[in-house]
Amino acid sequence: MKRNEPVLSKRGAKLLENSQPLVEAHFKSESDPWCKYSNPNGYINLGTAENHLVYDLLEPVLNKNPELEALHTHYGPLYGLDSLRHAMSGYLTKMTGAPVKKDQIVTASGSSAIIDMLMYCLCDSGDGVIIPAPYYAGFDHDLKGRSNVEPIPVVLKPENGYKITQEAMQETLVQARMRQIKVKALLIASPNNPLGKVYDEDTLKLLLNFATEQKLELISDELYAQSVFGDATYQSFWKLAHESGKNIHLVYGFAKDFGLSGFKTGFLVTNSERVLHAMRELSYFAPVSNATQKILENLISDKKFMQEFFKENRKRLKHAFEVLSSALNKEDIPHYKASAGFFAWLDLREYLASEDEDAEMDLYFKLLNEGKVNLSPGQLFHGSEPGYFRLCFARPDEMLKESVKRIASVLKDVPKVDKKIQPKVVKLG
Ligand SMILES: Cc1ncc(COP(=O)(O)O)c(C=O)c1O
Repeated sequence: MKRNEPVLSKRGAKLLENSQPLVEAHFKSESDPWCKYSNPNGYINLGTAENHLVYDLLEPVLNKNPELEALHTHYGPLYGLDSLRHAMSGYLTKMTGAPVKKDQIVTASGSSAIIDMLMYCLCDSGDGVIIPAPYYAGFDHDLKGRSNVEPIPVVLKPENGYKITQEAMQETLVQARMRQIKVKALLIASPNNPLGKVYDEDTLKLLLNFATEQKLELISDELYAQSVFGDATYQSFWKLAHESGKNIHLVYGFAKDFGLSGFKTGFLVTNSERVLHAMRELSYFAPVSNATQKILENLISDKKFMQEFFKENRKRLKHAFEVLSSALNKEDIPHYKASAGFFAWLDLREYLASEDEDAEMDLYFKLLNEGKVNLSPGQLFHGSEPGYFRLCFARPDEMLKESVKRIASVLKDVPKVDKKIQPKVVKLG
């Protein structure tokens, strides 16, 4: 007898419509990974935002005994062990430059979980959140996946390095309100994924003032705060909001700055008691195991190690970007000058058969299937124009050089349309 499929709730059925192309491409390329010696024809995965340059530094500290006690084998506060939140308050106070109290922190299983929980607490189904674009593709899933919140991209121009302006913010809000969307929050990744950009103080102030004037909650995802390797200086929204007495919800985690994406640990830091309370209630459903928390606490408590780790990490990221950038330059592949994170934003508009998203996907699959290089097409990040691709470069030199060779060899067979693209390395605004 044929088994009857369960009848899903409306919410459950809606989840079946979701797809995560970045995740699918990740697993496809990771199932047959390139190795210069043992698998020279394997895939090179430059689509996943992971740092593959620091495990040798972390290994000795991660494998130190985290001194687990009987109490760690039982339930602890599900919003995070006191001892980890205490250590994080010191760490985040230093990182942001303004006091973070232990009791302003909620721990959960990843920054995605934190954003999902925040959406659940702040928004009703159908409400909107505006996000300067191009923006990290996972935000779509975090917003829509459970809470049915609508991400509203702020369209920014590649010509001026995607500079955020008051006009663009205002225009987006007006348009959303004309569509009867109740806009509840402004969300930004600062430093930015996918642009590898660090925002200057004027831009931060513009966004903070805009959020306050328009009564939007400001959510700042600062996962790449310690991964700034260029000549820019990172500033935290937490500090600016603290100085001006404004609302702020800061998202942080171990996935990027520490290269520990597999540990799935994220934090919310908020100066709102109400948000804190609601988030603590939800943390029941997405806690982090005590053993993981103790390992992480151990790691950040070693101040000397931390300082040297970040210094070396920045050096390695800078080096990797330079290796990539010079290989791209040799092949005349234009790209933006990154100063944070793991991202190069490639401008492959000249290679699109037509100026649309289908042509961008065609090129994406050509690079994936023929070149066996997994990049991420710009449309996933809601870029304003097709033809841009994100490349994650926190990888060893040889892998970067091999990937550029492959990309160039695929592009060689694609008819070029003259878009008068100059210069080769573009400055971000
Ligand atoms: C800006 C940003 N926020 C959040 C995440 C997800 O972090 P986690 O793995 O901790 O859920 C990512 C991962 O790429 C990211 O780039």
